[in-house]
Amino acid sequence: MNQFGGNWSENKIEILVGYAKAYLTIMNKFAEKFNWQLLYFDGFAGSGHIKGEDGNENPIVGAAKRILEIDEPRSFDLYYFVEKEKVYADLLHKVTVEAFPNKKIFIANTDCNQKIESLSNFLSSKKGKAFKALAYIDPYGMQLNWKSLETLQKHSVDVWILVPTGMGVNRLLKKDGDISDAWLSRLENFLGMTKEDILPYFYQEAKIYTLFGEETKITKEENAIERSAKLYEERLNSLFKFVSKPYVLKNKMNSVMFHFFMVSNNKAAISIANDITKKYNDGTI
Ligand SMILES: C[S@@+](CC[C@H](N)C(=O)[O-])C[C@H]1O[C@@H](n2cnc3c(N)ncnc32)[C@H](O)[C@@H]1O
Repeated sequence: MNQFGGNWSENKIEILVGYAKAYLTIMNKFAEKFNWQLLYFDGFAGSGHIKGEDGNENPIVGAAKRILEIDEPRSFDLYYFVEKEKVYADLLHKVTVEAFPNKKIFIANTDCNQKIESLSNFLSSKKGKAFKALAYIDPYGMQLNWKSLETLQKHSVDVWILVPTGMGVNRLLKKDGDISDAWLSRLENFLGMTKEDILPYFYQEAKIYTLFGEETKITKEENAIERSAKLYEERLNSLFKFVSKPYVLKNKMNSVMFHFFMVSNNKAAISIANDITKKYNDGTI
């Protein structure tokens, strides 16, 4: 079972499910008319259950099952789940393939980045051109490479992305700016930017004069989490025409952990996403 649950975990799934229902309702009309097929892609699918706040007692039903349960007004034509951990992929098989024998479900026990690129290739193919897709990218950390997301930009795909602003980016941005090469490279892959562009965004440099001469003082911006959310939003906007307002996930101490965005090349899709997320934010967004 996946660790790491909480109220925000449930909200995130409710947002996704709410959106998927609206998506299927709208797409239902067009799918018949234009012979479209609907594909659901989950890049970090998990084990099928998430540990609740009370530990093991009341596990939260994961997104995979919730999405598969939707039948009205229609279901997706194809479901593709990616999970890197073999044990989780096997558990997921039970709650998906075995529990929904009449649905077309695939599970790939591999890295999400690889499969996002395969998804993009598929959507570009002759067969894939008939497909419209809804994707869910729900990592714990910074596993999503910017390069992978880039491959989706021209496609007819709506993507919900969990961005680890507080739990990922901010943690790598050390207070004194002394970031290891490995962490810098992680930031570069995640943001699709060079360190020369990333660092000035989060740090200020000032010359100070001491008894021993001139020194450079590096100060981290105070609102680095919000800055990272803004930056990622801008980056998303460079790929997709529209980016939703985020659902902001906070822990019990009210610290921001993640921002949950939806991107699409369809304007109507974004206004639906915004309507849904508004209910879950505390009025500040
Ligand atoms: C937040 S959990 C997913 C929870 C799931 N979406 C749900 O609602 O039940 C993230 C999952 O991604 C998996 N994972 C981590 N890195 C991955 C990668 N590079 N590719 C695919 N899956 C990965 C982890 O093993 C974990 O099960």
